Amino acid sequence: MDLQHIVSQAKEMFSKVDNGHALDKAKSKFLGKSGVITDQLRKIRELPAEEKATAGQAINHAKNQIEEILKHRKDEIIEHKLQREMADSSIDITLPGRGNRTDGSYHPISKTLDRIAFLFNSMGFSVIDGPEIESDYYNFTALNQPQNHPARSMHDTFYLADYEYLLRTHTSPMQIRHMEEFKPPLRVISPGRVYRVDSDATHSPMFHQLEGLWVDDNISFSNLKGLTREFLRAFFENDAIDVRFRPSYFPFTEPSAEIDMFFENSWLEVGGCGMVHPKVLKNVGIDSDKYQAFAFGMGLDRLAMIRYKIEDLRLFFENDIRFLSQFT
Ligand code: DAH
Repeated sequence: MDLQHIVSQAKEMFSKVDNGHALDKAKSKFLGKSGVITDQLRKIRELPAEEKATAGQAINHAKNQIEEILKHRKDEIIEHKLQREMADSSIDITLPGRGNRTDGSYHPISKTLDRIAFLFNSMGFSVIDGPEIESDYYNFTALNQPQNHPARSMHDTFYLADYEYLLRTHTSPMQIRHMEEFKPPLRVISPGRVYRVDSDATHSPMFHQLEGLWVDDNISFSNLKGLTREFLRAFFENDAIDVRFRPSYFPFTEPSAEIDMFFENSWLEVGGCGMVHPKVLKNVGIDSDKYQAFAFGMGLDRLAMIRYKIEDLRLFFENDIRFLSQFT
């Protein structure tokens, strides 16, 4: 049989199949155990000795050609298959997006803090920061609450090993730190975390306070009232908010008052305040005949709870994404 004819037969047959399995079948017709080429090779035996070599060479040449064509066709089939798969699995751009759920956002307490800082900045206050692990001296003694002072019992706290240090129970120690370091006039707020042994729907062992301090030579309780009232009105975006000052007691202020705010038909306590006690000013070396100072402390979480109408303080600290994502 004409070898070139066999080669072109193979070529034609291979070109007609379009998958790997059919190609293997077609291959066996030529190169398999009983394939045409294998058959030709077997027949060499029957040829006269002088023709064997040339015939062998010619058959092997044809065999190589067929293998070459086969390989080429195989590549084509794989390529086609790939193209088909890519076309089938193309992206459906009409499907609705899944959204990017990994985007972070500000915590409601951080938002509240930023807002408070912005409002006080606009009234000439700087924002200062201080240690959460505080010494007994700054947290109590310098604030006119020496050892065994009864007011200490209101601040049940977490002490560190030797009772000399503790987790601060309020942000008021920042008054002392700031007045020790800088000369009047001073106008600062100090927001931050504070700690007490307390836990229920409205108390958490860790919560946030906002301390305010103004030291100057011509200020009075009426400035304190005006300032806190203006702040609360701006914070709650309501110029009609009524504020009242209820006489109270704090060891580091004299006189002292609780700040209440009238909100949705009831009076809510939002903080404490007063004129800084002369003994406190003496502790930091400020002449109380020359300067006056007033201070206030507010519950930052409480302000956030009122603003966002949240009943349970613990929600802020549980890190439940369903709660937090409402503030994005
Ligand atoms: N430190 C007080 C507390 O945590 C709050 C407070 C009251 C702060 C009166 C003040 C103040 O600066 O003048 O209970």
